[in-house]
Amino acid sequence: MFVSLLSFSYAVYLLHLEILMSYIFLCYLSVTWILLAVPVCGLFQSPSSKPSSHPDGGLKSECLWNIMRLTLDEALAVGSQLEIAAINGTDIIPLSPTLAAQCGYSMDSDPWGNTKVFVSLLGCYVDNQADETFNLGLRIQMYGDGLSKKVQHDVTETCSYSRWASREILCDRNYMEVSTLMVTPEVPVTMDGQKVQETWQDAIPDAVAPNSIWKMTFHTPDSKVMVLKDAHRAGYGAMTTPTRLVLRSPYNMPETYAEEVAGVPMEVFSVSTYYKQVRRLAIIVSAAACPTGGLVFTDEVITWYVPRRIPPLISSAFKILETHMGINGQRLDKTMMAIRRYKLSITESHVVIELPVGSPDGYYKSHAPDYSYHITYTVEPMLELLWRAEDTRADTRYKVLFPITTPLMPRPPHVTESRVPEQKVFNVLLGTFLHDVSLLNITFTTGVLTVTECNARGFDFQEHRFANSSKTFSLQVPFSDEVVLKHNPNPLTTVYFLPLVFGLLILPEQIPFPHPAELEASLEDVVLPTTTGFCDQDNFYISVKYGSQGDNFQIMMLHAGSWRELDTELYSLTDNNTHVSIVVPYTAPDTVFETVQSDSIRARVDLLLLETPNMWQLNDLSLACYFPLTMTECYPNGTVTALAVKVESVRNLNPKYLTLSDQSCKPVFSNDRFAFFSFSLNSCGTTRTFFDNVMAYENEIAMHHSMGKHQSRKGLINPDYRHTVSCYYLVNDTETMAFRTRPRNSDPKADPGVGQLVVQMRLAQEVSYDLFYQTEDYPVVKYLQQPLYFEVELMWSTDPRIALVLENCWATLHEDRTTLPSWDLIVKRCENLDDRYIVFHPVVADARIHIPAHVKRFSVKMFTFTTDETVLKEQIFVHCDADLCDTTKPDGICSGQCASPLRDAKPLKPTGSRRGRRAADISQHQISSGPILLSDSSNFV
Ligand SMILES: *[C@@H]1O[C@H](CO)[C@@H](O)[C@H](O)[C@H]1NC(C)=O
Ligand SMILES: *[C@@H]1O[C@H](CO)[C@@H](O)[C@H](O)[C@H]1NC(C)=O
Ligand SMILES: *[C@@H]1O[C@H](CO)[C@@H](O)[C@H](O)[C@H]1NC(C)=O
Ligand SMILES: *[C@@H]1O[C@H](CO)[C@@H](O)[C@H](O)[C@H]1NC(C)=O
Ligand SMILES: *[C@@H]1O[C@H](CO)[C@@H](O)[C@H](O)[C@H]1NC(C)=O
Repeated sequence: MFVSLLSFSYAVYLLHLEILMSYIFLCYLSVTWILLAVPVCGLFQSPSSKPSSHPDGGLKSECLWNIMRLTLDEALAVGSQLEIAAINGTDIIPLSPTLAAQCGYSMDSDPWGNTKVFVSLLGCYVDNQADETFNLGLRIQMYGDGLSKKVQHDVTETCSYSRWASREILCDRNYMEVSTLMVTPEVPVTMDGQKVQETWQDAIPDAVAPNSIWKMTFHTPDSKVMVLKDAHRAGYGAMTTPTRLVLRSPYNMPETYAEEVAGVPMEVFSVSTYYKQVRRLAIIVSAAACPTGGLVFTDEVITWYVPRRIPPLISSAFKILETHMGINGQRLDKTMMAIRRYKLSITESHVVIELPVGSPDGYYKSHAPDYSYHITYTVEPMLELLWRAEDTRADTRYKVLFPITTPLMPRPPHVTESRVPEQKVFNVLLGTFLHDVSLLNITFTTGVLTVTECNARGFDFQEHRFANSSKTFSLQVPFSDEVVLKHNPNPLTTVYFLPLVFGLLILPEQIPFPHPAELEASLEDVVLPTTTGFCDQDNFYISVKYGSQGDNFQIMMLHAGSWRELDTELYSLTDNNTHVSIVVPYTAPDTVFETVQSDSIRARVDLLLLETPNMWQLNDLSLACYFPLTMTECYPNGTVTALAVKVESVRNLNPKYLTLSDQSCKPVFSNDRFAFFSFSLNSCGTTRTFFDNVMAYENEIAMHHSMGKHQSRKGLINPDYRHTVSCYYLVNDTETMAFRTRPRNSDPKADPGVGQLVVQMRLAQEVSYDLFYQTEDYPVVKYLQQPLYFEVELMWSTDPRIALVLENCWATLHEDRTTLPSWDLIVKRCENLDDRYIVFHPVVADARIHIPAHVKRFSVKMFTFTTDETVLKEQIFVHCDADLCDTTKPDGICSGQCASPLRDAKPLKPTGSRRGRRAADISQHQISSGPILLSDSSNFV
């Protein structure tokens, strides 16, 4: 008898992955048995539970015509190992893959543990009651790493099936089965493709029981004979039931063969079976032919071609009576087929089934061969045909269970970046993936971050699931994050670059596959640093405000015509991370002088912000200001100081070599930009001119050509450099003169220095002119007829070429020199001849007086104004007009006091100005005495 107790334990591989729901373990199990992948996953359940049918349908058995189907939902899967065994009464027979194929059992499962077991009703260990009622028992055992966690389900099912055709061919995933009605010897029947021969054989061994198989001849197509025992040992199934002969072969056996029928590859199993009937030996030739190919795939449709006429099975004309299509062993009605858009059609040569890729009866699966994303779609259609041979009128039911997996379909993930321009964020969308892909981590240039870490960092990682169970991942990375690389192709543009690698994982197998992506965005978003500045009397104040790139700039200053880096030791510099402030004195080495004026200098500083290493000029500043600086000072004692400044336009000037008109007059101090001169007005070639109320002295600072040793180096000096030094001595008068000359073209501007020539009139106590009344002595009291000694002096001047001459002198009652009455003392440089008491006194040089021409002395006798013999007032004031004149021009007034006496003395003048026209080289001073009082005892005279 057929006794096979091979024990087989499925090889299992378990990988644990903790996913969000930590109490669920998904696992993956693969078996070496082709077409049988048996995963066992899910919750560990109590070992005591033994449902024959699970309350929620997790474990379900169904009779589907000539097969029984057992489905185990993934939710019920447990542990990492699964064994199935057949139950025959009290015997438990573990089913190895070989035994399963030999006995009519097949198993299949998807990666998530949804398992299907098909059992042929004519399989081994099925309790067959008259070929009509079939009692099946299956035990499913699942356990994890330790056997202690074993879970066991026993399933029993009773199926009724009596509509057996004469011949039934079943092509399951792992075996081909053919069963034939055994005819009685009295009625020999020849059926299409199946010859029943009646032959009396005398040589049947006695041991062969009635109605049992003796030997088999396999047609490969060569013949090979085996007795039953040997056929079983070789892996074939062969048995008789009450009415039928059942033969079964796995695919690719030595005694089966491949044949292409109408372009479809098929596997053929053809056997002549000798069996003993009650009285004689019968031979049945039976064959099964199952398709092993015939698929055409497009991205949308799977087309499965099955030959309409299969020669090993059909020898004569036939008629197809029924066609059915099913899924997972279950027939579908027309409505369902329409809903699913399945098509079943018969052509001249083929029966054609079309299935849209992605129908819900199958499933998609992700793959990553060579780290590139692919998907497959798996579905298991069934084709059922019933045909009738026209000669014998015998029926054949032909049923194929045909799991189909599409070839790998590449689905390269797309990385799309949608960005709102104002938001400086990479908005990354990665997809599309199947539901079985998860994103574990992302590798940035700075390292790997898990999805959780990404969110903690503010990258807003999200997984988006869609109704069709596909998914995408989104991520937002701000440009400002350090994982984003930045560079500037030009000063205004920033290129943001985000290289990353998505660490993806296919579940439940835990197949990792990285997907690299590079994102780039270019924005004109650079804010350049800006410069501003202002000045006070001494310094430039420059402020550089950082741009968006921070302190990426170098501050360069223009020095001697070329840029050099800011000397931080030279200037006071403060940097508060938003601004750099620099204080530059206007005399600093990095400034240039543009122009000079008498009282100021215009200096400029040039600044450049330079980006290194690209040497981009980000910004610049040219700041020029006037700084107060007295270029020429004219002291009353005749000393002049003058500053010569090297301005921008005379770059090659060396101030050291500047001189005054007299080239022996060199600077008392000089450096690279200044020459300082100090000289007396009567020296160094100073010239002098008289104007109205002004005495003008002029000298010139220039690069004079006597420097023999530099003559050969002309380029170094600028012979055109001329700087005029002018001193204008104004008469200290009631009116102040403003005087300005036009500067010479291209010369440094120089306004004349303005000085004061002071003329004073004092009253001496004695004729010796040694002691004078001081300011606090006024009013000075004098008796009538007492002499008044006046001295008029040009103060401080050391210029011997000036002479002082008294033009007019007169007395008034009031301080105002123009009031009446008045009395002339000196008229046109001569004594008033109406007044006998007016006397000029000679002046000689002494310790006090160096230049006698600067001093005039005269005396009058104290008098008083009377009207009608009445003394009007006791006090008088004396006023003079003093002329300063050029002694080098003796023709004029300067020839002396009353040199050519004009005896046309005027009478007492009622009013009017005493001034007349004067020569251009004369300046006039107006001076007055303080009040002089007539003593009360004046009448003693
Ligand atoms: C099933 O068990 C019965 C007895 O319990 C035995 O007679 C029969 O041969 C067994 N069937 C097979 C196929 O082993
Ligand atoms: C990142 O994810 C991948 C899966 O694609 C995994 O292989 C890798 O080990 C992970 N790296 C880290 C550092 O977690
Ligand atoms: C930095 O200095 C600038 C002026 O120099 C000033 O306007 C700014 O407010 C300062 N910033 C800080 C943060 O102190
Ligand atoms: C003239 O006056 C200035 C300023 O008071 C003084 O520095 C200088 O020495 C004086 N020169 C002479 C020659 O007295
Ligand atoms: C003239 O000089 C005196 C003293 O030196 C001074 O007080 C006065 O202001 C001067 N007058 C003018 C007009 O400059």
